[in-house]
Amino acid sequence: MLCLCLTVTLVLSACKNNKPSPTSEPNSTEAVTEASTEAAKTDGIDYMALVNKTHPLPENWENQLETVHMTNSVGDDVEVEKKAYDAYLKLKADLEKEGVFVDLDSARRSVADQQRIMDEFTKEYGADYAAKTVAKPGYSEHHTGLALDLYLIVDGKDIVENENMIKYTDIWAKIHQKLADYGFILRYLDGEEHITGYGYEPWHIRYLDNSDVAKEITAKGITFEEYLGAYSGGDVKIDYGSSEIYKEDELKNAVIQIKCQFAFWGNIDLKSIRYAGDEAVTKENLARMNEINPDAKYTQVAEFLMDFHTPTDVGETTLKANSDYTDYPWWLARTADGGWDIVSFGD
Ligand code: DAL
Ligand code: ZN
Repeated sequence: MLCLCLTVTLVLSACKNNKPSPTSEPNSTEAVTEASTEAAKTDGIDYMALVNKTHPLPENWENQLETVHMTNSVGDDVEVEKKAYDAYLKLKADLEKEGVFVDLDSARRSVADQQRIMDEFTKEYGADYAAKTVAKPGYSEHHTGLALDLYLIVDGKDIVENENMIKYTDIWAKIHQKLADYGFILRYLDGEEHITGYGYEPWHIRYLDNSDVAKEITAKGITFEEYLGAYSGGDVKIDYGSSEIYKEDELKNAVIQIKCQFAFWGNIDLKSIRYAGDEAVTKENLARMNEINPDAKYTQVAEFLMDFHTPTDVGETTLKANSDYTDYPWWLARTADGGWDIVSFGD
């Protein structure tokens, strides 16, 4: 094993979502109270601010943010930016006319909230899983108060778990269709993990305070990063090859992890990802993965080959700036019932 060539910046990323899991039954009332905003206001927040894995919450945000608190159907307090909440209520009312019922699971989170979620997940699921499911404190769009996680109420039942919610594709389609009318966009699009840094989240919507811009982004089917010119790369070609060991869905999950990781490196232009083939799935390679992460007790290994172009500034990595890399290997491993970990790359 040579090295993890991008070690300094390699913090395994959050490609899955961290959903709190309220369990109680819904009630119909939503209490709203104004949050105290004693700090001096300036011109207000920038509703087009980009917060992602490479862009932290802008400085001084808190001083300019005006929020309200509401109580959701399961009794949780949720804090939301004021205009975003007004727009959400209009969206919700419109959806209800079509028999679609939603509520707010989570909106504004402080850096401390995000850290608490990170700590809880680390305790419950271990550091690897936590690092892959929760955004780094300071870099979550939820800090803005403009990102809203919806949950569904179907036949009077709260559907809050990600793995359950994601099954309701028809309901999400109805919701997504209306977002732009109220100034929202869907933030983490399916298949765009290499740009957004996160896997598909049908529930995570972002308020822009401008329905024309939201409509343009939605009509073009682009990410917020692309709209803002914060991503210069093109499409990533994916080749799952033919495997007799892994199903395409299993390889897809591994590829999502890789794409999310690349999003951490901002301007690195990822061109293609290829499954290296079943020949790499050997006992020796699995043993190497377990040597690197002895606690993980991996039972499966897979190798992928990447083509990419590095930016002019590669930070503290050993990669050469402004260079093409081809067939650059990445090694992933997992236990049969766990998600893929990126264990090693560059050799
Ligand atoms: N799951 C979203 C991306 C967050 O933690 O901010
Ligand atoms: Zn979210």
